[in-house]
Amino acid sequence: MWCAGVVLMHERKSFFEMGLVSIYIIELVLLLITLISFKLVHGGIPTTLDGPFKPVTVPLDESFRGNATDLPDADPRVQKPVDDSQPEQISVSLSATYGSVWISWITGQFQIGDNINPLDPSSIQSVVFYGVYGNPLTLQATGHSLVYNQLYPFEGLQNYTSGIIHHVRLTGLKPNTLYQYQCGDPSIPAMSKLYYFKTMPVSGPKSYPSRIAVVGDLGLTYNTTSTIDHMISNHPDLVLLVGDICYADLYLTNGTGSNCYSCTFSQTPIHETYQPRWDYWGRYMQPLVSKVPIMAIEGNHEIEPQAENQTFVAYSSRFAFPSKKSRSSSTFYYSFNAGGIHFIMLGAYIAYSKTSDQHKWLERDLANVNREVTPWLVATWHPPWYSTYKAHYREAECMRVAMEDLLYKYRVDIVFNGHASSCL
Ligand SMILES: *[C@@H]1O[C@H](CO)[C@@H](O)[C@H](O)[C@H]1NC(C)=O
Ligand SMILES: *[C@@H]1O[C@H](CO)[C@@H](O)[C@H](O)[C@H]1NC(C)=O
Ligand SMILES: *[C@@H]1O[C@H](CO)[C@@H](O)[C@H](O)[C@H]1NC(C)=O
Ligand SMILES: *[C@@H]1O[C@H](CO)[C@@H](O)[C@H](O)[C@H]1NC(C)=O
Ligand SMILES: *[C@@H]1O[C@H](CO)[C@@H](O)[C@H](O)[C@H]1NC(C)=O
Repeated sequence: MWCAGVVLMHERKSFFEMGLVSIYIIELVLLLITLISFKLVHGGIPTTLDGPFKPVTVPLDESFRGNATDLPDADPRVQKPVDDSQPEQISVSLSATYGSVWISWITGQFQIGDNINPLDPSSIQSVVFYGVYGNPLTLQATGHSLVYNQLYPFEGLQNYTSGIIHHVRLTGLKPNTLYQYQCGDPSIPAMSKLYYFKTMPVSGPKSYPSRIAVVGDLGLTYNTTSTIDHMISNHPDLVLLVGDICYADLYLTNGTGSNCYSCTFSQTPIHETYQPRWDYWGRYMQPLVSKVPIMAIEGNHEIEPQAENQTFVAYSSRFAFPSKKSRSSSTFYYSFNAGGIHFIMLGAYIAYSKTSDQHKWLERDLANVNREVTPWLVATWHPPWYSTYKAHYREAECMRVAMEDLLYKYRVDIVFNGHASSCL
């Protein structure tokens, strides 16, 4: 089940004769793209040169339930599957080019409650053994580890401290090649089972991943499980997650949740979260993202304010994306190549004005794109600039005003957004 609003905003002749297309991804929605099929799709999409035209919408199916039910704490798929020293929540993400990926995982127990005692990241190593599939794991990379805290200095609220989060970057990888790896601490020894991932193809006008799964507003509900099952059975080469990840912020720190935080919990001194939802999500996702690289960008549900005005701490700590490699100062915005596609991931909940660092970065990044090497230019961020959905109407208008000209100037082909969960 998916619906996508497709708005063609201008016409240009690019490699695939595509215009700027904006596709809004809806809650629990999976959109599998076979890039070649865009050529077929193009036949049906009018351009603004043909317009103005009335937007085509699909009537609301009243039989859809307006809320989805979260997997409970007791679900076997969200239990800690291994001992404390063993890796769990294993995932792969891409670096800026095919030659490098990140392997991430978590060891140790998170704690939530009073008198929590953060674990010492230096107490356990971050090592990956890897090699081309079928060969011995002769290559080795070491990385770094960290813990993060979600602290609420208010009477009755519980604090959280994470397990030890490990990030290791593998380098010198060959394109379009299946690798196998084990991660963990070999000195204990506590290495994971063998996992596999495939690198992206080289960047070039005739070289693309076959399938990219694009999903937004994913969460961890029973409906998420059918979305992920669809993804797994479609064998994507890459998963793009357009913000709103596990919705830990629909919960109080005591683990009580609601479909609508502000309706149910209007009296809380700060917008609380239940951080173990992140761990549940990481466990639930491992079967997919330990094999298929996942690239995400933050949405509004990742803001998660806490003590000392800190925000986005879980998002920033749990994921490794090519910020440095794409000359960004953080994973709030970054870019990477997947074959002949250059992806630009933008932050809609941090500064984007014309004088902001993000804007300067975006201009620099766009100016450096070589369309001979990556003919496709795809931009993603969480809230759509164009939407008729009442609840979020023109919410991202300031971002649009600040950045839209740049995207036109550099002739971005496709935009993916989430946020407007209007289908369900
Ligand atoms: C959510 O769906 C369930 C099951 O259909 C229903 O019982 C419940 O009232 C719904 N809650 C809201 C807030 O709509
Ligand atoms: C949580 O952490 C804050 C900030 O360090 C502290 O003020 C507060 O007392 C802690 N709360 C609990 C329940 O431990
Ligand atoms: C979401 O999951 C529930 C079961 O929890 C199912 O009844 C419902 O049909 C699903 N909704 C959609 C839109 O798939
Ligand atoms: C959590 O706190 C809320 C609000 O105080 C309360 O209604 C709920 O019963 C508590 N849940 C648990 C599991 O203690
Ligand atoms: C947090 O933000 C508020 C409002 O902007 C400000 O008054 C306060 O000084 C900030 N606190 C810290 C610790 O930065």
